[in-house]
Amino acid sequence: MCGIFGYVGNSKDATIMAVDGLKSLEYRGYDSWGVAWKEGGALLYKKEIGKISGVDGASLSTGCSLAIGHTRWATHGGVTVENAHPHFNESKTIAVVQNGIFENYQELRDELKAKGHVFVSETDTEVAPHLIEEYLKQTNDFAQAVRMACKRFTGRYGIVVINTESNVMVAARTGSPLIVGVQKASGYFVASDTPAFLHHTRTVQYLDDGEMLMTDGTTILFCDIFTGEEKPKREIEITWTAEQAEKGDYAHYMLKEIMDQKESVARSVNQSDEEIHAIAEAIKNAKGTFLVACGTAHKACAASEYFFSVVAGHHVNVAPASEFTVYHHFLKPESLLFVVSQSGETADVLEAMTVAKSKGAKVLAIVNVKGSSIDRAADYTLLIHAGPERAVASTKAFTGQLAVLLLVAHALAGKLHQGKQLLLETSSMINDMLNPRYVERIEALAKKIKDEEDMYIIGKSWNYPLALESAIKIQEVSYIHAEGFAGGELKHGPIALIDKGTPCVVLAGNDETLPDILSNAIQLKARGAFVIGVAPNENEIFDEWVRVPDAGPAQAIVNVIPIQVLAYFLAVQRGKDPDMPRNLAKSVTVK
Ligand code: AGP
Repeated sequence: MCGIFGYVGNSKDATIMAVDGLKSLEYRGYDSWGVAWKEGGALLYKKEIGKISGVDGASLSTGCSLAIGHTRWATHGGVTVENAHPHFNESKTIAVVQNGIFENYQELRDELKAKGHVFVSETDTEVAPHLIEEYLKQTNDFAQAVRMACKRFTGRYGIVVINTESNVMVAARTGSPLIVGVQKASGYFVASDTPAFLHHTRTVQYLDDGEMLMTDGTTILFCDIFTGEEKPKREIEITWTAEQAEKGDYAHYMLKEIMDQKESVARSVNQSDEEIHAIAEAIKNAKGTFLVACGTAHKACAASEYFFSVVAGHHVNVAPASEFTVYHHFLKPESLLFVVSQSGETADVLEAMTVAKSKGAKVLAIVNVKGSSIDRAADYTLLIHAGPERAVASTKAFTGQLAVLLLVAHALAGKLHQGKQLLLETSSMINDMLNPRYVERIEALAKKIKDEEDMYIIGKSWNYPLALESAIKIQEVSYIHAEGFAGGELKHGPIALIDKGTPCVVLAGNDETLPDILSNAIQLKARGAFVIGVAPNENEIFDEWVRVPDAGPAQAIVNVIPIQVLAYFLAVQRGKDPDMPRNLAKSVTVK
């Protein structure tokens, strides 16, 4: 949540790089944006409400080498220019951008107010420049003053700070991600995510929790916030390219990422047999395996409960990460926590990991972003290799997560080779599905139902969590009220919601659950529902049939594809931006 960026070096294009970097971080928050830069010994700035997409960095400055920027997802205080970052002290000699929350900001604010400080925003962040100013009175060392301030903050945060007295950029983190981009001989970047500087460098260094860094663009020093002890860092080359993180000729990232699934599911199969077997063994031997994630990733875990049961006859426990902390009574050192996350930065998931580790349990992770906080905190990680996912609505990461979980279930059943084969076949099915005619048919279906205010989706077995995921997809981008149910649950209440013409999607596969879900579809139809069947075979119950291939245990992976396309077109046809839905952010780094 919130994207932060900083650059210091010998380029004179710092504001251009800041604006471009923020554009690629906009998926993390897009309520407002701001940039501060050093020019002629002063800190200049620009803040605005709304998206940064149309802004040209050259209009801010064409001659500065030190700049920081921020794209905001509001937590404390409304969406106003005053609340937009960067925040300053009164004399505007110190500028700060933050991603996260200073939980004790009220107490710090009161303390600073008592010393005569005047605040102009409602944010927690504004305490930082004022507090740093106070510490600068005690030590003349800018980095030292930032460090003293950081020791006072509680909560999860990442900050980047600059001042008028030096050409040094200082950054610190506890919880929120901050990655350094190393451009040898010309400068250093700091950002919440790598696409912010991928056009300039693919060499990175990771700042860990409780650490800070200071750089003048020529050298960089990392240290522990609390002890001051120096922390040497390795330089790592990342494999994602700037082009992968762009939307190319597609109108939106969401559509591009849906289309990426023609290849991304096959890439997720790219796991070493030895490692998958070791993970399967760990699940077999664990006294309780808990699968934990948020939102769409949680629905992948919920589907995997069926994978583990149907494919491997093994029981696993699934919980939303935000609820997991109450499960701690069940955790033992022999328990296993399996976390799933696209970003690898989700705060609730990180907290679940902390709880599990405090009980001595091992943590396995399935993530998309290598080097993310979850990747580095886990005992073992499987990457889904989906490539950068920029649209807020998760699409290719979801199918990648399903694929890896299905692979692990197969390994647990001693059928890893069959699992890999199944997924490669599924990948080529997706490639066939996503042809222009198929996409156009779904676009036409979206046109038919775009003015509806309610939609329901039902499924059974792994299609039940998929119904929940389908509802999320439709809700978050089109703002249609969509709800997913287990088909068999309809008659216990939800069927009262069905009216004449209510669109209801029935997710089906060619398996033993088909008769039941069709019977649930008949119950809907009898109440006047407009029944949209997503199934391998046509059926007279369906008012509209969306054909999907018969993918056996991988049915959930193919069934979600037309739903993603439908959600995309519903958003576009209702005039919504599917890449940046209201109130949301891609990476949820606050609890
Ligand atoms: C997906 O479309 C969502 N926007 C959201 O539910 C997301 O899946 C969730 O926030 C978890 O994110 P993560 O996978 O990065 O942990």
